[in-house]
Amino acid sequence: MEIIKVNASKEYDVIIGEGILSSLGERCVSLFGKNRAVIVTDSNVAPLWLDETKASLEKAGIDTLEFIFPAGEESKSKETLFELIEFMAENKLTRSDFAVALGGGVTGDMVGLASSLYLRGIEFVQVPTTLLAAVDSSVGGKTAVNLKAGKNLLGAFYQPALVLCDTLTLGTLPENIFADGMAEVIKYGVIFDKALFDKVSGGDVKLNIESIIARCVELKRDVVAKDEFDKGDRQLLNFGHTMAHSIEKCSNFEISHGSAVAVGMVIAAKASHALGWSDENCTQAIIDANKNNNLPVECDFAPHDLADVALSDKKRTGGTINFVVPQNMGECVLKKIPIEELYKIAEYK
Ligand code: GLY
Repeated sequence: MEIIKVNASKEYDVIIGEGILSSLGERCVSLFGKNRAVIVTDSNVAPLWLDETKASLEKAGIDTLEFIFPAGEESKSKETLFELIEFMAENKLTRSDFAVALGGGVTGDMVGLASSLYLRGIEFVQVPTTLLAAVDSSVGGKTAVNLKAGKNLLGAFYQPALVLCDTLTLGTLPENIFADGMAEVIKYGVIFDKALFDKVSGGDVKLNIESIIARCVELKRDVVAKDEFDKGDRQLLNFGHTMAHSIEKCSNFEISHGSAVAVGMVIAAKASHALGWSDENCTQAIIDANKNNNLPVECDFAPHDLADVALSDKKRTGGTINFVVPQNMGECVLKKIPIEELYKIAEYK
């Protein structure tokens, strides 16, 4: 078992281990006392992990409520957010009560936002059940739902009180969902840690998954401690994400976030090398790592379309963006570029 302490506007532990879901109840009692919990989860995760979560809380003396919503990105909406908040209110949850986000990024982001809003803030616990949520979205306090105009546009920075990741929950993930999380793991390696990149680039990571998640969380902990509110270094975590957001949108969200990030990293590495922004050409290493981890390396969209979408995302012309450039494997930097350079970058798709 690994315990990583996050020091942001709130201090909390991220606990990673096999079979630790059964300890959730005791850990919550020591944090919040025997107050009530609303467990929030989706229709995919509920049949797999809800009973064990509920049993752990109830065994420790915590009364539980359940809020189950339809699985999928469509549920990451202001409608589901408000249904959840109304549910909390109907059940008279108080500020001493707390929420448990049991699931992937959609669940964690939405429960975090609901918790920040209801009664001006109640505590919440993240129990990530996807690799992507374990290494990225459950840690660091970014919470949000989508608006019609785009993803994650309604949100808040609001840190959880605890993150508990039972690696057994990853065992029930379909291979493509596991691969999505590996895109973010590879991303951490390219940005911060060549040794991590080397460890995961050959694929075949499942036996070491606990230490891999722990390393990603340590890296995220360090960047969040420096820049919780995303004004500087935290933006390094956007490596590969500028083009990834365009790829997701051009595919009408048929291409998953992780697959889009995988391709976005290849485009960013190729473009950075070709445009003379990188010291080392990291492209082939990233392509190999993606392939070995069942991730794509290219997409079919026209460069002009990718750039148009990226530009419309930024809603303006004539400005600049911070584009993440791999200097060397394990070291990325932010480069301020005119937004129109996105057309040049997209040529390397
Ligand atoms: N997912 C990127 C961040 O937390 O900043």
